[in-house]
This record gives sequence, structure tokens and C-alpha cells, in this order.
Amino acid sequence: MTSTEATINPAGLTCEHLYDPIGLTTIRPRLGWIVESDRRAQTQTAYQILVAESPEDLANDAGTLWDSGQVPSDQTVDVVYAGRPLHSRQRCYWKVRVWDGQNQPSDYSEPAMWQIGLVDPEDWQADWIGLETETTTDLEMKPAVFLRKAFALDAPVARATLYATAKGVYRPYLNGERVGRAELAPGWTDYHHRIQVQTYDVTAQVQEGENALGLLLGEGWYSGYIGFRGTHNYYGDRPAVLGQLEIVYEDGTTERLVTDETWTAEVGPIRYSDIQQGERYDARLEMPGWNAPGFDDQDWTSVLAQSRDPDVALVSPPGPPMRVTREITPVSVTEQAPGVAIFDMGQNMVGWVQLRIEGEDVEPGTEIRLRHGEVLEPDGRLHTANLRSARATDTYVTKGEGDEVFEPHFTYHGFRYVEVTGYPGELPLDALIGRVVHNDMPHTGTFECSNAMVNQLWENILWGQRGNFVSIPTDCPQRDERLGWTGDAQIFCRTASFNMNVLPFFTKWLDDMSDAQTPDGAFPDVAPRIEGMNKGAPAWGDAAIIVPWTLYQVYGDTRLIETHYESMQAWMRYIQEVNPLYLRTQRLHNNYSDWVALEKGSSAEQIATAYWAKIARMMAEMAEAIGRTLDAQRYGALAETIKQAYITAYVNPDGEIETHTQTAYVMALDNDLLPETLRSAAADNLVEAIERRQGHLATGFLGTPPLCFVLTEYGHLDVAYALLTQETYPSWGYMIKNGATTMWERWNAYTRETGIHDPGMNSFNHYAYGSIGEWLYRVVAGINAGEPGYRHVALRPRPGGDMTYAEASYTSSHGLIRSGWYREENVTRFDVTVPANTTATLEIPTDDPDSIREGDFPADEAEGVTWIKYENGFAVYHLGSGTYSFTAP
Ligand code: BGC
Repeated sequence: MTSTEATINPAGLTCEHLYDPIGLTTIRPRLGWIVESDRRAQTQTAYQILVAESPEDLANDAGTLWDSGQVPSDQTVDVVYAGRPLHSRQRCYWKVRVWDGQNQPSDYSEPAMWQIGLVDPEDWQADWIGLETETTTDLEMKPAVFLRKAFALDAPVARATLYATAKGVYRPYLNGERVGRAELAPGWTDYHHRIQVQTYDVTAQVQEGENALGLLLGEGWYSGYIGFRGTHNYYGDRPAVLGQLEIVYEDGTTERLVTDETWTAEVGPIRYSDIQQGERYDARLEMPGWNAPGFDDQDWTSVLAQSRDPDVALVSPPGPPMRVTREITPVSVTEQAPGVAIFDMGQNMVGWVQLRIEGEDVEPGTEIRLRHGEVLEPDGRLHTANLRSARATDTYVTKGEGDEVFEPHFTYHGFRYVEVTGYPGELPLDALIGRVVHNDMPHTGTFECSNAMVNQLWENILWGQRGNFVSIPTDCPQRDERLGWTGDAQIFCRTASFNMNVLPFFTKWLDDMSDAQTPDGAFPDVAPRIEGMNKGAPAWGDAAIIVPWTLYQVYGDTRLIETHYESMQAWMRYIQEVNPLYLRTQRLHNNYSDWVALEKGSSAEQIATAYWAKIARMMAEMAEAIGRTLDAQRYGALAETIKQAYITAYVNPDGEIETHTQTAYVMALDNDLLPETLRSAAADNLVEAIERRQGHLATGFLGTPPLCFVLTEYGHLDVAYALLTQETYPSWGYMIKNGATTMWERWNAYTRETGIHDPGMNSFNHYAYGSIGEWLYRVVAGINAGEPGYRHVALRPRPGGDMTYAEASYTSSHGLIRSGWYREENVTRFDVTVPANTTATLEIPTDDPDSIREGDFPADEAEGVTWIKYENGFAVYHLGSGTYSFTAP
């Protein structure tokens, strides 16, 4: 049955929030779609999902795996598959149709698919294989291992799937070609608990007749350098790879090729390739054809094989892999000293560079050295002191046979400048190409306004996210650290969720958090955990509650809450059992407090207690969301008790908090820790603390994210805008005035008076202060989730400062939301878009609500618009879905 009468259509089908994923290890995946419409105020009243075993069945509307029938529902997100049980390797083809408000069905959507991976441990026949190698370097780094296996296929192939992973990092090749575009796979997890398996559809890369599978294996996080203590061989000292190639012939018979002791291996041109230190590549040692059929591997060594450990879970990565997502060309090259060229990429970026040389004049064995740095010394030399012990150096040794191209394999650097030495001659600007690498998440947000500096700030925030979403949310991408700092992650999570779809990425990281929890309930400071940071500080360990809560707000995801509920409860108990007076004074561990704040003197215990109240409230909301009503009441009551204890201990009767710091007031107000009567006095005190510094903030990692929100909420929008657009030190604007293209770790990473900050801890690419991005989206442009998951949108644009316009968009799980305001001659225009099958509340600031118009109508007469009220200077409307343009005097 088809119909074109319906006013809505389904599109953008996802499974587990991904497009056409393969290799899933969940057999109850969640399906989603977006409803589109070109009319206002449209809703979905029912849906029907068909899932079939073959594309042909689906085309014939035969839901051979699942026909949901017509389900009366407005749900479009996280519809759990409820058809016939699924099994390993199964491919599922699906489509959906929807009914509109007049009960008219749409056509079926375009088809989509998902494929189940190897769910059952028994599905795996492969062994881990690797090679004992000599370490030749001062840092005991190991050469990469090349592993190969030739095989023949004696019939036409219908489908070929490769499952692979490593304790280390790897790249697969088939018949001389690289398989897939994943970089640094399988990514960092606690390899003793969980290892991510990549699944590749390689049907097009195998052939009837002779074939060869090659696997290139490096150290990665498994045995390479991680963290800041010179740690390596942390998970083991011998990397290994696991692979299983499964063939389905056209006649339906199957065959499989697995990694086992019959493989051979050798070391070659990659002398070492380490995430922090860089790569040494000796092109003279290349082994052309090593990964293709017909290669002579007689001299290769047999591999060491080891069986799989049943305690280590082999799982599908919840999100997209790291990939090269864009290329950058340098903006200049300077001869800094004889033989020393400095390339400026024009952007602090993360990844590596590709080097291209024209070989005629180069002797074989010439060593070209690439060093990476974020900033230059005043005399133009590369500043590398802030990388601490990370060498971040790639060395290429030439073949000397003509044009040569080099790109490292298993390292990454955070840099804007590349120093090239060792090349006999002058390199042209296009000798280097920057390759930007990070988890390849779909972009979901845009922001633009009339203030160029703020636009640059938004760009810098985005670059900070690109550079630090590298398998895990890292603190920084350049020095010997690059750890999954929990505090940083929770601080930036909400901003990140506007810029990109981060649900799968953080779903993975929350598993890292669970894997890192100690038996007594403590979450770590960094996840994956490394020794010494096992027990998390306030606001750091608390990330295990803040991140799932944030994802629940943004995506409406309750499965994550269910999955982590017990471990979140254990953390709450871990705090409460030693703090009977409801002030958080015990188990503060490495208590970082308001990290790198310029204003000293905030009380660490106050901040800790405020965070305890915050996470108690979040627990109450999450418990409610999964139907644990009693728990919800208990956590609600806990928050209330903490609040009373806080007031008694820290708040004076006149609304003063003794430390008088900006952060103290921000924490108290943001976490509802004051009696109602004292709130506006406390907000005034905050403003005074800002005025004491001539309109500058002095807050650190914890005080900064809520600062502008608190000011906005308590009637000081002007102060918030002034902080946002401030250009003297310290401020976001000051960073930008001084050339920042990413977010700095510290307000004083560089100042004109003091130069580059002490390199002991000074990153130019730390995303925490980028948390102001949330304020740009939610307050300046006004896009808020009125209900978890944006099923209802709260649009609260707040024109301010001397900006003449600002606009943002956000692609939610329900579709595209837009909000923008434009100051025109006598009116301000407000343009908004509300996705089909959602509703919105719009607040328009105005003195004259009666004169507001939408298009050609008085606003409350326009289609889709319902007047709600006028309160506190805001005209409030209810909107059905659609695009609107209001003008207000
Ligand atoms: C990291 C941070 C982290 C902090 C903990 C630093 O070394 O770079 O961003 O949160 O330590 O205080």
C-alpha cells in the first residue's frame, strides 16, 4: 500500500545512532528516524517498521524478521528491535513508514541496514599472533610487525567480512590495498577487560583465485608510551593481532581464514612508531608487495600464537573510528636557521603531516626529521618544552630513488608548526600536508554571530574537540599526557554534544569508566585508568554521573542509565559512607578543586560539597527516568540535606560566602545551595567579584562552565556578554588576540608581559575553557532541550552586548533545530525552526508583546503558534513544528 497524501515522511534511519552499522554486538539494537515535513505543526501518530533478511524481501514489504505492524506512537528514537532473535553475522534490512495527524500513512523510507558481528565467544576461531622483536632504540620502542597469509578462493564470492583487532594498533590490507580508513584501530580501552573489534565488508577486495591478507601491527597504547610518567609496556610488552576473514561463496557455502601459527611475520621499514614519541621510517627497508599474493615470504619468521583469554570481552565499538577527516595546507615556510625550515600550518591541529619530496637530488639514506610544536619561541625556534618528554618527532630515511611520500602510521601529534631538518635543499610549501585525525563523528552544530572574535572562539572550540576526541576524550593531544581526564570530559561534554553527535563516543568511554571502577566503588581520575590515579577527585570521579546525565538530557538515552546504574550508585555510597555530616570533606583524593583558576582561595571542600549536591540531583532525575521512584526520592532528599549542611557551614546570613571568590558564588548559585532570599544578593556579590577585576573572570576548570549561565539566570546578562567579548587579559578574547586557534589550558598560557607560561604544564589545546560553547548555543542562540532528547525544544534566545545578530543550528535526534536573532531597524527578528513531530516553547524578550508578529500575522494568529503568557519581560509562545519568523519591537 502506498500513499503520497501524508504530510510527513521518515528519513535519516539509524541503528544504535549510527548509519548502516556493521559488526554490532548488541542483538537488541535501537532504531531511529527523523520525521520530515514542509508543513507546520506536524506529528507522527503511528509507525510501522519492517525488518527483512534480504533486500528482496524488504522490497516486497515482507518483514521476514520483524513486522511491527502499525504501532500508535509518536516515538522515533530508540525503538528497540523486537523481531525474531538475531544471531552473529546476520544482516538486517529495514525501512519504516509513519502516519500523520490525519492518519495518513507515508511511503516507506529508503531502506537501511545493520549487520550483527561476532556475538558469541565461540564464533571466534582465531588466535592472537605477533612476533618477538628486538628493541633497538634508547626508549626501548619496538619495530612494527608485518604479518601475512596467502590463501586461495576457489569459487565466486558473495560476501567477505573481516573481523580484526589488536593488543596494540593495526592496519589491515588485502591484496595490496588498505582495508578501510580507520586510524589507530582498535583504539584505547583497558585491554585486560575489553577490546574493540572492527568489522570490514571486504567483498570488493577479495577475488577468486590467489589472495593475501596482511596485518601491520604497532605498539599503540598497549605497549607504547602513555601518560606522564614515562610509562610503557603498561598492558603488556608484546603486541598481537587477531583477525578472522569470513567468506560466503555465491553457492552459500562458507570458508574462514584466521590468524594462527601458520602465519609468517617480519619487521620492515617502520623501526618504531609510538604515539607520543613519533615514528622512524627507513624506506630502504620497504618490502614491496608484502601484503599481496605472490610475495616471496620464505625468509619470514613463523609467528607466536596465543589463544584468546575468555575474560577479555571482544566488543563492537559503539562509535565511528578515528579517520583522517580533512587535510590542511601550510600557510608559510620560513628558513629559521641554515637547514632548518619551519612550516606553519596556520592552525593548531592534531594528526600528522604527509611529506612529499622530489627525490632526484636526495641520496639514499638521507634522514629527514620532522619535529612538531604548538608555538614558536620569540626568536622563531620551535617551542617543544611544553611537550615534556614526548618527542613528537617523525624521521624519514630516504630510498633516494625519485619522488617519495611519507606518512607515519601509529603516532599522532598536536601541533601548528613543523620543523624540518635534514633535507638537502629547499622544500616548497606544498611539501607538507596536514592530516587531521579524530573519531569521525557527524557534525551537528553551527554557530555564527556579528562578532568576529566570538566566531573565531567557536571555531577554536571545535578544533579543540577535533584534537581531543581521539579514541577517548583526552585532556590534551601534544605532551606526554593525552589521558582520559574525567573532569575535563564532564566539563566539555555538553558543548561537545552540540558540535557533534557524541553519544556513541561517550558510550564507549563510559565503559572505560566502568572498567576502571575500583571494587569499593571509586571511579578514577583518568579512564582508561592508569596506576596512581585510581580514585577520582570531586568533579573528576563525578564524571561517571555527570556524563550519563548529560547524554540523557541531550539524547534521551535511558539504556546508558540502566547499564551504569549500579556502578553510579556504588560511587554515591562511596562518598556518603565517609561524609556523615553531608559536607564532602573525606575521600577527596587528588582534590584538584577549581583547577588552574587565577583567583586562589576558593574552598576545595565547598566545591566538593557543591558537586555532591549536583550529582545527587542528577541521580534523582536519572532514577526517575528509569522508574526507580524510591531511589529518586532518596537522592532528592540527599541533595536537600547537603544543601542545608552547606548553608549552615558556608553561607553568612547576608548571602556572603567567606572566600568571596567568583567560583564560590558560581558554585552555590549553579547548584541551588542558597536559601531563595539570598540568591540575588549572592549574584550581586559575584558581579562585584568580577568588577573587582575590572570586568574579568578569574575562574578555573570548575567555575568557568557555569559562570555565564549563573549571570544570565540572575539578571546579569550584560555582565555575561561583557565577559564573552572581553579582549584584555584574562579572557577568551585575549587568547584569540594573541593568535590562539584552539583553547588554551590556562588563561595565562601566554601573556604579552610574561611570555609563554612555564612549560611544566602548558597546553595550547585543552578543551575545558571551550565549555563556553554551551552558553553560545543555549543562551546566545537559545537552543535548549525542553525535554530530554529534544522531544520538546525550549527556545530562549537572549540578544545582548553589541551584537547585531546571532544564529545557531543543532541537528538533534529528532531533526534540525534552528534559532537566530537579528537586530533590524525598529525590531528584532527571531527566526526559528522546530523539527516535525516535536514542539517548542519560544521566549521572546520584549516590552511590547502585543506588537509581535509572525510573518504577515499578529503572532498569536499565525499557524502553529499558541500564546502562553507574558512574564518578566518575555512573551512566551507554544510552537508546533515548522519554520517561523517573528518580529518584536
Ligand atoms: C590535565 C588536566 C587535568 C588535571 C587534573 C592535568 O595534568 O592536563 O586537564 O584535569 O591534570 O588536575
